[in-house]
Amino acid sequence: MTSFRQLVFSGVQPTGNLHLGNYLGAITKFVALQDSHDCIYCVVDLHAITVPQDPAQLRQSIREVTAAFLACGIDPKKHIVFNQSQVPEHAELAWVFNCVARLGWLNRMTQFKEKAGKDRENASVGLYAYPALMAADILVYRATHVPVGEDQKQHLELARDIAQKFNNDFAASIASEGFGEAFFPQPEPLIQGPATRVMSLRDGTKKMSKSDPSDYSRINLSDDADAIAQKVRKAKTDAEPLPSEEAGLKDRPEADNLVGIFAALSDQSKADVLRDFGGGQFSAFKSALVDLSVTKLGPIGAEMKRLVHDHAYIDSVLADGSERARLQACETMKAVKSILGFVQH
Ligand code: AMP
Ligand code: TRP
Repeated sequence: MTSFRQLVFSGVQPTGNLHLGNYLGAITKFVALQDSHDCIYCVVDLHAITVPQDPAQLRQSIREVTAAFLACGIDPKKHIVFNQSQVPEHAELAWVFNCVARLGWLNRMTQFKEKAGKDRENASVGLYAYPALMAADILVYRATHVPVGEDQKQHLELARDIAQKFNNDFAASIASEGFGEAFFPQPEPLIQGPATRVMSLRDGTKKMSKSDPSDYSRINLSDDADAIAQKVRKAKTDAEPLPSEEAGLKDRPEADNLVGIFAALSDQSKADVLRDFGGGQFSAFKSALVDLSVTKLGPIGAEMKRLVHDHAYIDSVLADGSERARLQACETMKAVKSILGFVQH
């Protein structure tokens, strides 16, 4: 077995409000992994344009996601923070992967079905091919670990299938070019903890999402203390007191979601939270959740607001990160081209 250097890669789309789901499902993991791994965190602007975007808004959103990364504690000097479009090798490798991935594989992607909706004929080709670009994002760095929320699991499986098929299809060439048995690693998803799928505060059966028309469905990272408090207080619950054990959360999606959020924000398990709040009414639990959320998220929102206006700083972080990312991506693409048999000058 070829062994690969451990490297973390993940991406976030610049498409509107970053929310508690992004924070707990992804960004807190990004922050934690910095101590043990080399990490590359990408604002995936090429993914954003798979659906229509207003250019001025997109520019703003790219800076907002970058500001959120920094405000949450990602260190752009020790690690790499950049925006995808500035490293053209992502799109270049995605083309190669479009020729490796099979139509049947992409046809199974549930996110495409959800996003394209009924009017599938009118969806962009980019939206359909998006998982091949996501595989390229990861594999252009030959990254081994990918922290994501639960909703990205299927895309990660596809990235593994693409890596495997490339390694198989070109096994002889990979060996003769001196890369051993496998050129690409099998990237491993990191999806753990009590909040891998944070649900809407208005409906515990729907994922918390940037695109939900109701702002009360999500806590945005940019929300101030008042907004956070109001949203938590208005969050949907049921009429029963909280259970004392985790099994009691079954078939109570709203209670399960709020307990999961509390657990993730306080770095405990759901069982720990229920030990403290089980048997009590939602009102007391919600007050504690307001305090916890404001304490954890308030400073992040304030720092984001400060940073996002400092275009010179944000843009310099992205420029520096892009340059460093590109050096690694170019190396991979050069090898891929020789494996494929392209004549290089
Ligand atoms: P996106 O905003 O779609 O680019 O998502 C960025 C990251 O946040 C991905 O790793 C997603 O899996 C994660 N994420 C998005 N929504 C949620 C959610 N409701 N719960 C947990 N993770 C989420
Ligand atoms: N598809 C991811 C999302 O919508 C974002 C993404 C793009 C990503 N490329 C990636 C995540 C590579 C992890 C690794 O959330």
